[in-house]
Formats: sequence, C-alpha cells, structure tokens
Amino acid sequence: MDRASALAAALAARGGPRLAGVEWPVSIGSTSDRLKALARRGAPEWTVVLADVQSGGRGREGRTWVSPPGGLYLSVLLRPRFEKVGLLPLAAGVAVAEAAGELGVATELKWPNDVLASGRKLAGVLSEAASGAAGVEWVTLGIGVNVSLEAVALPPEMQGAVTSLTAEGAAEVSVDAVAATVLARLADCYDALRSDPSAVLSAWRSRAAAWWGRRVDVRAGELPLQGRLLEVDEEGALVLELEGGVKRRLLSGEVTRVRPTAGT
Ligand code: BTN
Repeated sequence: MDRASALAAALAARGGPRLAGVEWPVSIGSTSDRLKALARRGAPEWTVVLADVQSGGRGREGRTWVSPPGGLYLSVLLRPRFEKVGLLPLAAGVAVAEAAGELGVATELKWPNDVLASGRKLAGVLSEAASGAAGVEWVTLGIGVNVSLEAVALPPEMQGAVTSLTAEGAAEVSVDAVAATVLARLADCYDALRSDPSAVLSAWRSRAAAWWGRRVDVRAGELPLQGRLLEVDEEGALVLELEGGVKRRLLSGEVTRVRPTAGT
C-alpha cells in the first residue's frame, strides 16, 4: 500500500476525516503554495498535500520554515461554511496540541497557534485564506511538526529554541502516524467549531493559561507594541493592555518576547 492509501486507511479506522485527495511528493517548495494553487482551481475540502522535505517552507509573519527530513509538512484545504471561521487558526493549534498529547507529549499554546513543549517550539500553523462576495471561500492550514528533527539539521540560531516529539519522549515517532493523528484531531476540532465554538475556545484558553497577565512585546504588522496580555476574545483576537490602560485587539501578529515576571 502506498503512503497516501495507508494514511486514508488509518483515518478510516479512526472514523475520519475522509480525504478528498492526497499529494505526497518526497520534496516540494512549499506544501501550502501547492495546496493554494489547487484551492484556486476548485479542489474540494480535505484535499491535503504532504512532503518529506520543503525547499521553500514558509512560516508565519513572512518567516522561513526550515524543513529538513524528520518533520511533518502538511497542508489541509478547508471550505468552512460556519460563522466562527476566525477561530480556525486557534482550532488548528488545539488539534496539533491534542495530537502531541495523544503521542505522549505535553504542550502549551502561544497565540495564535505556536505549539510549545518544554518552552520550545514543537509545531507551528500557517493559516491562509481567500474570500469572495459570499465570505471566506477557502482556508489552507499549513502545519509543521518537528517529529524527529535533530538539532544539528537546523541553523545554529534556532537550535536552542526548537524541540521535537522524539526529544520530548513521544511513544510514536513516524511522520506518517503523526500525520494521521493530526488530521483526525483536526477533523474533531473542525466539527466542534461548527457545533460548539466556545468549546474550542475553552480548549485553546486552557492550553494557553500561562500567558495571561504577562508583559510582552508584540509585533503587529510593522508595529512594535508593548503591553500586558489580557485575553483571547470570542473572535480569537488577542487583547493587549497598552501603557496607560488602553486596550488593543489584534487579529494577527506575533508575541516576540515575554518579559520575566517580577522576582524571577
Ligand atoms: C509558524 O511560523 O509557526 C508556522 C509554520 C508553518 C509551517 C508549515 S510546514 C507545512 C506548510 N507549508 C509551508 O510552507 N508552511 C507550512
């Protein structure tokens, strides 16, 4: 059985999702770039693209996602027809965190969807969307998980900031099994967004509890901001209290630094 068929079989055994199409080349520029091209040509939801290596992997905020062998590089096409589409990036983070938990690795989430283990980056999600007159037409969720990456495969400046499932003691370390686990958890979170979005938000909040009240530096577009993290609201926006008590809602951006708490 080829890998795509084995993935479909593993998902069928777990109750879904049923994949509409699978591309799984050994090497690609970016799985998300390929999937966006398929989305524009009308590919159905749950079309997925995976690769063992990416030569042009992209991260959030225009960063590069270094993608040597040993990582999961997966992009999933969705065509959501429900209201709370803005929560989809958070739901993807929850799904990856749940998948890591199923594989024996405890994680926490950092807004919007960085998945951390032992305070280091284990996985990230790049959410991209296109809208038309009727609202959101499609969303691609590009998911990168460090499965068994050796630190030496990464640039020196990244080595202390990144961890992997293997390094965190995961019981199951095959990329293919991680792909099935992530997709199954993503389907559960996607269903939950439709039926009970507040449950997804609660799941996200409970995995991000450590951050609230902390003083942070945030980059939102070109704008550097400093403030205190108040909450993530019902739309998935980060609410920051700036100096002077002014509140600011951010729909996208990056927490670039968490300042030490007093006394630590
Ligand atoms: C982040 O910056 O945290 C998001 C990283 C997302 C990386 C994944 S790997 C699969 C997909 N293809 C890409 O080029 N990027 C995403």
